[in-house]
Amino acid sequence: MMLDQTRLPIDVNYIECADYHKVAEGIKKLWIRGAPAIGIAASMGIALAAQNIEASDGDEFIKKLEPAFAELLATRPTAVNIQWAVNRFRAFIVRHKKESITILKTKLIEEARLVLDEDIEINKAIGFWGAQLIKSGDTILTHCNAGSLATGGYGTATAPMRAAREQGKQISVIADETRPVLQGARLTAWELMEDGIPVTLICDNTAGVLMQKGEISLALVGTDRTVLNGDVANKIGTYSVAVLCKEHGIPFYVAAPMSSIDFSIPSGDQIPIEERSSEEVTHIFGTCRIAPEGVKVRNLAFDVTPAKYVTAIITEQGIFRPSDLKKLADPSTDISRLRIEIKP
Ligand code: MRU
Repeated sequence: MMLDQTRLPIDVNYIECADYHKVAEGIKKLWIRGAPAIGIAASMGIALAAQNIEASDGDEFIKKLEPAFAELLATRPTAVNIQWAVNRFRAFIVRHKKESITILKTKLIEEARLVLDEDIEINKAIGFWGAQLIKSGDTILTHCNAGSLATGGYGTATAPMRAAREQGKQISVIADETRPVLQGARLTAWELMEDGIPVTLICDNTAGVLMQKGEISLALVGTDRTVLNGDVANKIGTYSVAVLCKEHGIPFYVAAPMSSIDFSIPSGDQIPIEERSSEEVTHIFGTCRIAPEGVKVRNLAFDVTPAKYVTAIITEQGIFRPSDLKKLADPSTDISRLRIEIKP
């Protein structure tokens, strides 16, 4: 079952996904969205696809899974997490290819469940590190939804907020509404209210003036793909927030599980940026037209924030400077020496 996030918070509807085609449809249509969540959904989709495969050995099994890999990868190009899931499952099958096909199928279901469980642990670790950047009294600006709904639970950008609250820090959050499909208004505001974290909703174009008035202490966002030089792809509008932060001397932090860091791409200009339908801009909820019929539209779903605007990247392994990601990619690096130490 997949919670249809496009209808939240007005309707709480679950859609049955009995095969991987339905999972792919759900990812494409944003029933499920957010980089880690679509990585988890893709993992479940692969495990589902595997159940219908007849094969005599592991090699044939992988070959027969290729159409499922391709269909899931074709859904949304910017977040690296679907590619991450496909790579993980390919490697898993190679490691277990000597097992019987029946056992392999069961193991793939277990592996998909593990991806979900691990994601929640990862988010909590991001919370542990990230909460050190938050003081009592801080007001945190966030963009889009990098919360529970975008992950297995707990969220990436919301994790430090939740952890700070659990530590008794008094914080409040300002949520950008996040046009065009309003993940901030519909999802982040809803989630934080459910959790009792004080949240104020603003139109995207209000962030600048609040910074000018000194009402924002820091910005904290998620990412769909962060690359080797520290450039960060995230929901359209994130770049504007980062530039405004620089102008106003406000720290701009990115919460990034390692599964969202693509060490194979040297810089942000090589990240594929998804362009979505004009209806997302011309209509609200797909039904209410708000722009003239036939108007030309550009609907880029993501932008890339250059590393120079990013104060630090919060991962499950610690907080790092964007310029240190290259060293993080090297398995011989002693990670503890790269971490930014935060004085309490
Ligand atoms: O188009 P969406 O809703 O999938 O975009 C989501 C975002 O941009 C999130 O900020 C990002 O995926 C990080 S989620 C932890």
